[in-house]
Amino acid sequence: MAALKVEHLEKELGTQKSLILKDLNFSVNEGEFVSLIGKSGSGKSTLLYILSTLDWPTRGVVSFFDRDVAKMSDPELHKLRNRNIGFVFQFHYLLPELTALENILMPARKAGMLEQKKEFAESILESVGLKDRMHHLPREMSGGQCQRVAIARSLVMEPKFLFADEPTGSLDSANSVMVFDIFKRINKEMKTTIVMVTHDPELAAATGRQIHLVDGMLVKDERVES
Ligand SMILES: Nc1ncnc2c1ncn2[C@@H]1O[C@H](COP(=O)(O)OP(=O)(O)OP(=O)(O)O)[C@@H](O)[C@H]1O
Ligand SMILES: [Mg+2]
Repeated sequence: MAALKVEHLEKELGTQKSLILKDLNFSVNEGEFVSLIGKSGSGKSTLLYILSTLDWPTRGVVSFFDRDVAKMSDPELHKLRNRNIGFVFQFHYLLPELTALENILMPARKAGMLEQKKEFAESILESVGLKDRMHHLPREMSGGQCQRVAIARSLVMEPKFLFADEPTGSLDSANSVMVFDIFKRINKEMKTTIVMVTHDPELAAATGRQIHLVDGMLVKDERVES
């Protein structure tokens, strides 16, 4: 059974109802690390938002473990979003008035699991190399450090899926490598299924599979030995 599957997925956007994603069909197995590549405007972010249930397709089906997202009840959808899906954006969107640790614990707070997640939150902070920044505010940290906090936040609920839209897009090459290494490790150790949009061919080549979009169409789907 595929962890994530899209069938005949299409998306229209704007007043012109332009077809942005065209008859996409693919599935992702549990534990895969997939990069989504393609030129600017090819539909990568649009697709990633739909995969992560932040947006809906115009036509077609998105399913997680054979469960059609459109047929899920509200509580089921909530649980999928809050517990099983993590999202990392190009910019970190940390809350400026909260410390690194408080930001990381935000999803746990929302889920009413603040107490039981505290220790784990500290351990992920440590694993992204920021134990000594635990009580710092975002403005007291560098861009790369903030992005690592955002990754830690996306992982606090131990999601099965992690979606990332150019997570290294605003970082220099040293920080990009560091963030990418964290993704590799999460994928390996936590068996998290990752779909990452990237412009960086070197990073894409270092993932297990590359899905290439051109004008909203899937033109290449390549698995590589890792
Ligand atoms: N709300 C919208 N209304 C109309 N068109 C939109 C809307 N959002 C995105 N588009 C169009 O959809 C297409 C795909 O956009 P998308 O943001 O998915 O591209 P992308 O591959 O992520 O590009 P980039 O690499 O620049 O981030 C673009 O042509 C864009 O102009
Ligand atoms: Mg984009």
